[in-house]
Amino acid sequence: MKGKQLFAKKIAEETIGVLTEDEVLEKIEFPKYQEQGDLAFPCFELAKVYKKNPASIATELATKTKSSYFSKVVSEGPYVNCFLNKKHVSKEVLVEIQTKKEAYGSLSVGQGEKVTIDFSSPNIAKPFSMGHLRSTVIGNAYANILEKCGYKAIRINHLGDWGTQFGKLISAYYRWGNEQVVRQDPIKELLKLYVRFHEEAEVDSRLEEEGRLWFLKLEQGDKKALELWQWFREVSLEEFKGIYKLLNVNFDSYNGEAFYNDKMEETIQLLKGEGLLSTSQGAEVVTLEEHNLPPCLIRKSDGATLYATRDLTAAIYRHKKYQFAKSVYVVGQEQSLHFQQVFLVLKKLGFNWASQLEHLPFGFILQNGKKMSTRKGKVVLLENVLREAIAMAEKSIEEKNPTLQNKSKVAHDVGIGAIIFQDLKTDPQHSVEFSLKDMLRFEGATGPYVQYTHARACSILRKSNRYNGNESLDGLSDEPSWSVVKKLMDFPTKVQESYEQANPSEIATYLLSLCREFNKYYAHCKILQEDNQLASRLALVECAAIVIKEGLSLLGMQAPSEM
Ligand code: ARG
Repeated sequence: MKGKQLFAKKIAEETIGVLTEDEVLEKIEFPKYQEQGDLAFPCFELAKVYKKNPASIATELATKTKSSYFSKVVSEGPYVNCFLNKKHVSKEVLVEIQTKKEAYGSLSVGQGEKVTIDFSSPNIAKPFSMGHLRSTVIGNAYANILEKCGYKAIRINHLGDWGTQFGKLISAYYRWGNEQVVRQDPIKELLKLYVRFHEEAEVDSRLEEEGRLWFLKLEQGDKKALELWQWFREVSLEEFKGIYKLLNVNFDSYNGEAFYNDKMEETIQLLKGEGLLSTSQGAEVVTLEEHNLPPCLIRKSDGATLYATRDLTAAIYRHKKYQFAKSVYVVGQEQSLHFQQVFLVLKKLGFNWASQLEHLPFGFILQNGKKMSTRKGKVVLLENVLREAIAMAEKSIEEKNPTLQNKSKVAHDVGIGAIIFQDLKTDPQHSVEFSLKDMLRFEGATGPYVQYTHARACSILRKSNRYNGNESLDGLSDEPSWSVVKKLMDFPTKVQESYEQANPSEIATYLLSLCREFNKYYAHCKILQEDNQLASRLALVECAAIVIKEGLSLLGMQAPSEM
């Protein structure tokens, strides 16, 4: 934000040798009440250095800080309060947004460096769970935010496509499976087989052994076993891709756990070479006693490798391949221990890049306060949930705007957007409540509300057939406009915060507050009235539309121009 920068520069000029411009910038606050101005600088620290009381320093600074961008600078107790020149600043901001368009708020911190983001990562032959939905939505938004900050995001889907469960599944398929039935509804049918395996294994002890043998065969490359596994993977992935298409999410890589099969021995040799492996009850482990953590399991007594072994190998592989500046894992908080262990083992191996690994945990999805589960029979088929959201959106569009063109596309964008927004408006660490009815409301803190505000702005611009965005601007100085302008000025800071805190909810809550201000403005001002402020007001509407659309796009949502 221009005004803040300038205020910081001026203060820094007056405190040379004590505070740099960046240090001042960090201290500047946004007062709660308009009477206290637009920006405030607290003088407590300066008081310590100058050995004077903060109020007198504030008074002194206030008289010295001048610019055509400030309408007045006054002291209030220990604070220097700055009132920006609304006309001047609003004009500047609007022109900046009109010029930069969707690039407004972009940062260059990333300098084109790569960040790998491991997200979504569902398990083959199992339903795409609500947890995977959270990972998908949060991971995709975070990847967008990283790109906005100048990074190259590499989206990786670390599919759960290997493990002893595939031995059981193969055994179950040979016993009770039917190709035609599986083809019709792959994940559901495969899950049925898997559940039946466990049920029957309880009474017939031979089954476990049979499953174990099939997995052994699979690991040894048995042709029949591999073929079946390949087929399970293919049909499951096809279903997952249907969900990704609905959500408009893409991946750069689908290298899952199986991809690392032939790379694991190297990791184990590396661990051995560094003297990190020890034996515990027949299994090979890396002890993490010095960190007060349980040991990281590397290889079971029967020779099978584990989830952690694969993640170690994947991290090493990814670093070799991408030379990432950062590597992020968007995975539920219940796996925190696992990632702690994996990162520590990599550190013990002497990889200095281990410090660039980051687990981004998230909470559960709740329904009526209870965790939504996909275990056993209680499967919530996600694709059905998404389709239901779209159908509900279509119904409400039908009621509100029956003549709308492109109804089904808009319903898709609104239905999916509602689900995405409902998740992202909450800090990822917290649990989110899942209620289709609530998230599809057009008012309140919902995706449709934000999208609707955008469509409303677009409709004003359509109505003002004269406006072409090139008129010279006067700037705006009334309070309702100023509240919107201030929000618009905030966007770059919010982008930066959401990046630094790896938290897309910063953007979502920002959008809600921008929309609230914009709707107040809309209710208050005759925007289309013919007077000499018309061009400035329309520019404000255009800029609000640009920022809302860009904010939504960071979250992975569409912004229909009519709805
Ligand atoms: N497939 C795992 C699960 O569903 C998530 C994988 C997360 N990524 C990773 N690199 N471990 O729990």
